[in-house]
Amino acid sequence: MFDGKELRRVMGQFATGVTIITTHDGAGGVYGLTANAITSVSLVPPLLLVCIDRKAESFPHFFASRVFAVNVLGAAQEHLSARFAKSGGDKFAGVEHRRGTLGAPILDGALAWTECRIVASHEAGDHVMHVGEVAAADAPGGDPLLFFQGRYRRLAGG
Ligand SMILES: Cc1cc2nc3c(=O)[nH]c(=O)nc-3n(C[C@H](O)[C@H](O)[C@H](O)COP(=O)(O)O)c2cc1C
Repeated sequence: MFDGKELRRVMGQFATGVTIITTHDGAGGVYGLTANAITSVSLVPPLLLVCIDRKAESFPHFFASRVFAVNVLGAAQEHLSARFAKSGGDKFAGVEHRRGTLGAPILDGALAWTECRIVASHEAGDHVMHVGEVAAADAPGGDPLLFFQGRYRRLAGG
């Protein structure tokens, strides 16, 4: 079987943006993790895909709420990416955000955000792929935070 760490190194050549995917538990609790395994899937209906590690502490909350928000990070939000890429602690402490219409946190300063209802979940090895139908979205814009070869990057001149 092909080695997972080697696959991470190989796929590190595929430059991506960085997002924080959030959800909630219906009892006031909010959860989120840094993720770049996301993509648009369909325009009609409008669908997005997020891939979440079974080992993530936030993993069960996506099944419970059946909603998620995708927050696309800006160049000035690397510290948030680092915080949400570690398990534990109060990740949202001091992080300005509001709750979307579906209840998931939308972070201030995100370049774009989408709120989605989960319409399908597919087992995929050590991850689960959640397909979400977009209920609301907007794109305030700005310079992106990028991830390439295992490191954060910024656009030249950005
Ligand atoms: C740039 C970057 C991209 C990541 N992409 C994903 C991803 O797409 N899916 C995922 O499950 N974890 C991803 N991770 C790892 C999670 O952020 C990490 O496991 C986090 O600790 C999970 O938080 P939790 O345990 O509080 O849920 C990524 C980490 C980084 C730094």
